[in-house]
Amino acid sequence: ANKLGSKKERTLAMIKPDAVTKVGDIIQLIYEANLIITKAKMTKLTWKQAADFYTEHQSKSFFNNLLQFVTSGPVIAMELMGDEAVSVWRKLLGPTDSSVARKEVVSSLRAQFGTDGTRNAAHGSDSLASAARELEFFFPSTAGHGPPNTAKYTDS
Ligand code: TYD
Ligand code: MG
Repeated sequence: ANKLGSKKERTLAMIKPDAVTKVGDIIQLIYEANLIITKAKMTKLTWKQAADFYTEHQSKSFFNNLLQFVTSGPVIAMELMGDEAVSVWRKLLGPTDSSVARKEVVSSLRAQFGTDGTRNAAHGSDSLASAARELEFFFPSTAGHGPPNTAKYTDS
């Protein structure tokens, strides 16, 4: 924690295929929430990659629907950094089901840009441990090619 008692964290955000065209609005929400984007990548997941990313859900009834959707077009993965980034990004996302999210008093990203319980616009890591695993999935630390990331998060 810094002197103000906050905790700098990193989390993995993924814009799903249904909301890729809304990337501009989503970046604005990220900026307004005091998070910074320290890495970003647009990619199209294979079935196998999606199954790996969502491995915790492999036995769920919705697993196939989820993989079908998330492999249906490109996704945009981002590393977000800031004070309590994991919970701040989850809060911006709102409830998992976009149709439930739209009933909430406070609007959220999933309320605005998603459709239902599967097509829900974006993903966010649910814990620091998930964030570490999911960031390594999209931004492997062994990928030592290209220019270094010299972006700095200023703490003052
Ligand atoms: P989950 O981890 O429960 O939600 P969250 O994304 O809010 O962490 O589920 C992962 C994804 O699986 C979710 O974003 C959408 C999809 N899903 C369904 O398609 N049907 C469902 O009933 C649930 C619970 C999730
Ligand atoms: Mg989850």
